[in-house]
Amino acid sequence: MSEQIKNIYYPVEAEVIRVIAETSTIKTWRFKLSEQMTFRAGQFVQLTIPGIGEAPFTPSSEPGTCDELDITILRAGRVTDNLHDNIKEGDLVGIRGPFGEGYPFDKFKGHNVLVVGGGVGLAPMRAGIYGLFQRIDDFKRVSIKFGARSPGDFCFTDEFDEWAKRPHTDVTLTIDRDSPGWTGRVGVVTVLLEDLDLDIADTYVISCGPDIMLKFVTLKLLEKGFDPYHIYLSMNRRMSCGLGKCHRCNIGPYYICKDGPDMCYGEIMNYPNVFG
Ligand SMILES: Cc1cc2nc3c(=O)[nH]c(=O)nc-3n(C[C@H](O)[C@H](O)[C@H](O)COP(=O)(O)OP(=O)(O)OC[C@H]3O[C@@H](n4cnc5c(N)ncnc54)[C@H](O)[C@@H]3O)c2cc1C
Ligand code: FES
Repeated sequence: MSEQIKNIYYPVEAEVIRVIAETSTIKTWRFKLSEQMTFRAGQFVQLTIPGIGEAPFTPSSEPGTCDELDITILRAGRVTDNLHDNIKEGDLVGIRGPFGEGYPFDKFKGHNVLVVGGGVGLAPMRAGIYGLFQRIDDFKRVSIKFGARSPGDFCFTDEFDEWAKRPHTDVTLTIDRDSPGWTGRVGVVTVLLEDLDLDIADTYVISCGPDIMLKFVTLKLLEKGFDPYHIYLSMNRRMSCGLGKCHRCNIGPYYICKDGPDMCYGEIMNYPNVFG
């Protein structure tokens, strides 16, 4: 009998085994997959709700080979509203992937890594952070800077203290406007880039968040003297095939689905519409 070839357009069945409310607009779904999946930090999957539609998400759980997968999702429209309103424990969805290249961690070996996230951008970054922790001794320092509108808008708050205890890792948080009881920094996430205590020439950056945040983070990093080729941005584009076939997600000659979604800013900076 000939070996069965996996059809990349065909999703595997995924049963919801847990739903965790992270904030008022973000939940994490834990899925039991009908087949094991192996994904690298930064790679994404396409999630299908039968009869409703498909959308791209980056898993928020630890990268590697798994038969359970977490995806943390902001309510944003047709597919995501349906997930939030209707998809509960025991329900079945489809997941296909993984797609994209993910983070080029080998390139960061021997250097500092600065992780800058905002809003729901923390969700995809969590897999990236776990990926860095899996090989923490490869990096001089991992410095995590997260921003949210208010204390209640952070995901994974119960994990931050544990992350900060990892070897040569630090975590700093900021909220947009001061709030009673808040002891962290105040201001949008770029305030955390003002007083960096890292050797800039020796630091790579990964960043994920809304387009407007990515834009101002990039401008601040460039102002601080970062090499554009040391800045990796998780690009958010509407996607369809996830495979570089439908031409829906390109920036210049690059396809975000195939070459990213974490794109080196130096390689895309001269093309139009980098920030949406
Ligand atoms: C590689 C990748 C990874 C992602 N990972 C996550 C994740 O981990 N968690 C998460 O919550 N979200 C993530 N997103 C964003 C998520 O895919 C969109 O929020 C989702 O597709 C919206 O679908 P919808 O049907 O709910 O909304 P729709 O009804 O399609 O749209 C709602 C609104 O959002 C806009 N929109 C839809 N999709 C996008 C998009 N990709 N970029 C910009 N605007 C868009 C629409 O134009 C519309 O204004 C990721 C996106 C990409 C490309
Ligand atoms: S989603 Fe089809 S080319 Fe990228």
